[in-house]
Amino acid sequence: MEFETKCLHAGYTPGNGEPRVLPITQSTTYTYDSTEEIGKLFDLEKSGYFYTRLANPTTGAVEEKLAALEKGVGALCTASGQAATFYAILNILESGDHFISSSYIYGGTFNLFAHTLRKMGIEVTFVDQNASLEELKKAAKPNTKAIFAETIANPALHVLDIEKFAQLAKALDVPFLIDNTFATPYYCNPVDFGADIVIHSTTKYLDGHAVQTGGVIIDGGKFNWNNGKFPQLSEPDETYHGLVYTEAFGAAAYITKARVQLMRDLGATPSPQNSFLLNLGIETLAVRMERHFQNALAVAEFLTEQAAVKKVTYPGLKQDKNYEMAQKYVPNGLCGVISFEIAAGKEVAAKWLDSLQMVSLEVHVADIRTCALHPASSTHRQLNDEELAQAGISPGLVRLSCGIENVNDIIADLKQAFEQLEG
Ligand SMILES: Cc1ncc(COP(=O)(O)O)c(C=O)c1O
Repeated sequence: MEFETKCLHAGYTPGNGEPRVLPITQSTTYTYDSTEEIGKLFDLEKSGYFYTRLANPTTGAVEEKLAALEKGVGALCTASGQAATFYAILNILESGDHFISSSYIYGGTFNLFAHTLRKMGIEVTFVDQNASLEELKKAAKPNTKAIFAETIANPALHVLDIEKFAQLAKALDVPFLIDNTFATPYYCNPVDFGADIVIHSTTKYLDGHAVQTGGVIIDGGKFNWNNGKFPQLSEPDETYHGLVYTEAFGAAAYITKARVQLMRDLGATPSPQNSFLLNLGIETLAVRMERHFQNALAVAEFLTEQAAVKKVTYPGLKQDKNYEMAQKYVPNGLCGVISFEIAAGKEVAAKWLDSLQMVSLEVHVADIRTCALHPASSTHRQLNDEELAQAGISPGLVRLSCGIENVNDIIADLKQAFEQLEG
């Protein structure tokens, strides 16, 4: 199946007389005829549903679809993108371990890495993702266990040299985890460029309608966990009578462990209702992304012509410093998110945002409706000036997420807000 077809058909094939649309299985539990059968489910000897915290038919169908879209061997949906990132790391790292992350990442991920994981004894080193491979290798330590970055960074919109990061991971013999939220699988499949684990906040483009929070971890299935660095996967798990994930589940060892151990113990499971809504969003992902891209490119061009605007960052613009990298990794299109800098700084940026009429102020991106945000006073307000600069954020920076309205209406609204600055 081609991508657009998978968006509609992967993960759910109704049988004769069954519902055409993926049904919501709004049930926490499932019944069985014998205790023996339930015992086999608990011992992971048999697959099946026994409790919705671990698996649910609606969520399972969406997981299968997402694994197909990202060319993975399996997927685990979570209650939010944050939970997905947290589990993706915690599945293989523990107290005393270290990992390397690009500094161009979402503010919430930065907090998770720099503060919460650190309190748990997992240490991170942030690197400039544009540094050379040799420079990047200097961040490695004997206890380095993973590499992390975003395909298109939120909100700096830097496009990652995915192959360079994959080489770094390979050189260190550790997995490369990538957050592909902004690119979406429609525009980029990081596993094609050597990424091992793909993460999404499904709250964003995959849903697209701003109706549910969710996350997903997709296992590329290619990393060799038997290299002595990941005893969590290659040595017996006492909570399953000494089962060894790499032996029992082969290529799907990582994602199976995330489900049967982390989801079992930590429980950030999505509701079946939310999985249903997410599925509706994914069905139209391909058509929505094309419109997001067309609109964003036209809006970015409009912004470059505005006197009040110092700088526009959109890797679809030929003059953007990430244009070449975008041509390599996301050649067919990009997300609808643009960032630009209002030259006069924080207060004027706030005034411009407050003057918008159709475009709404929201702590969100990737909605079908155009929305805008001021990162320095919202998503990234916990960061100090130095950290803000490291994440590529200036006080006058505006993040604009172009929706799928008629582009003339989006531009008209931005234009009237600029006119108010002149008045
Ligand atoms: C790139 C990226 N990753 C992860 C997250 C976290 O996702 P969630 O808000 O669903 O927890 C976000 C949220 O904005 C994001 O933009």
